[in-house]
Amino acid sequence: MSNAKLIVDGKEYVFPIIEGTEGERAIDIAKLRSQSGLITLDDGYGNTGSCKSAITFIDGEKGVLHYRGYPIEEVAASARFTEVCYLLIYGKRANKEELTRFRRDMTYHTLLHEDMKKFFEGFPPNAHPMAIMASMIASLSTYYPEAESEQELDLNIVRILAKCKTIAAFAYKKSIGQAFIYPRNDLSYPANFLRMMFAVPSEPYDVPKVLEDALNLLLILHADHEQNCSASTMRMVGSSEANLFASISAAVCALWGPRHGGANQMVIEMLENIQASGIKLDEYLSQVKDKKSSIRLMGFGHRVYKNFDPRARLLKQAADNIFAQLGVNDPLLDLAKNLEEAALSDEYFVERKLYPNVDFYSGIIYRAMGIPTNMFTVMFVLGRMPGWIAQWKEMRDDPTYRIHRPRQIYVGETKRKFEDWGNL
Ligand code: ACO
Repeated sequence: MSNAKLIVDGKEYVFPIIEGTEGERAIDIAKLRSQSGLITLDDGYGNTGSCKSAITFIDGEKGVLHYRGYPIEEVAASARFTEVCYLLIYGKRANKEELTRFRRDMTYHTLLHEDMKKFFEGFPPNAHPMAIMASMIASLSTYYPEAESEQELDLNIVRILAKCKTIAAFAYKKSIGQAFIYPRNDLSYPANFLRMMFAVPSEPYDVPKVLEDALNLLLILHADHEQNCSASTMRMVGSSEANLFASISAAVCALWGPRHGGANQMVIEMLENIQASGIKLDEYLSQVKDKKSSIRLMGFGHRVYKNFDPRARLLKQAADNIFAQLGVNDPLLDLAKNLEEAALSDEYFVERKLYPNVDFYSGIIYRAMGIPTNMFTVMFVLGRMPGWIAQWKEMRDDPTYRIHRPRQIYVGETKRKFEDWGNL
């Protein structure tokens, strides 16, 4: 095993170097503080591995993404979302029998407790659906007790996987003042969700195959992405032994922000603003590059991908096909392509290795599918659910896991006297 040597004030410390199965190397500093009294400082955790994980592998330099060893391109080409949920959470491909049971469970747990419908009535009409998602998911823990056995945990896992799409669709129906549409047990996960979104009680509605397949692809491409902000939140909250629903609710909130999953909504708003204002693309990019403006090119850049994001590439390829099948001609797609081209040939973006990420094209496809803009990040929640669960379960299955509790470098006032000012 190789070692790393650290010399501080003339004293030498030796730390093991560990290597992952794909050749990634890390200095294991678990004993750093106990041996040297020092800690590391890594703002934003850009150089810090927070765990060992066997779920998802990313090589950001080469644009590689694997789920449990399977390349995303191959998974996306042939799998259904439910299969991917099983693969990520249980670490292996389900056989026919396991998949049939898992599919059945994920279908038959789709209903919400009737009392939960009253919660939707309490939210203001313009409530953001992400706030509703986080609240409703946390409130599931009031109906379903903390799992005390493997079987109970498996049941809670299918409950949240199945119910989150019902919560999402009900949140949308509530926002437009329409009656809730109940789930149907004969439909696939994506078709069931799309029907709950778009059907109305008095009319027949068959989910178009193109929409079902497009959503299946989008869900798969969002299913996991190793230790990102929301997955790390999931592990962080779960490390205190908070229950599954509470941990997922926290992860939903982490995903909401515009630097993470909230970017898909912001991309469309950015494109709409560019279109409405008629601003030239190079002028818009100048504003983005101006550090005083605090404007970012939404859907661009990634902490890990420094070449291309394979999910964005797959979505860009899929977009033309989906648009053609739907017969949609959205000028925002052309605008997005032109903006991408302009940015990729601009020195600012080239130097910083900023490329389109998954959010750049997902919003345009959701829009073509008729999903409203403020639901885009909710769609991300549905896709990322199995990844969060897999990350949480992997941590909790490890008997050696510890509460996540980073340290800090204190830079505030040094000790001073608290004067008694008498009665103020
Ligand atoms: N537009 C303009 N400049 C950018 C952008 C962007 N989208 N992204 C990064 N930069 C610049 C930064 O200003 C910085 O420039 P500097 O070196 O001159 O200071 C440099 O590129 C490095 O950026 P960081 O912020 O240090 O990169 P970090 O890894 O911390 O951030 C992030 C990654 C948050 C994704 C960032 O690229 C960003 O804000 N992108 C826009 C939001 C977005 O699309 N988020 C979705 C990410 S994918 C996902 O979560 C699903």
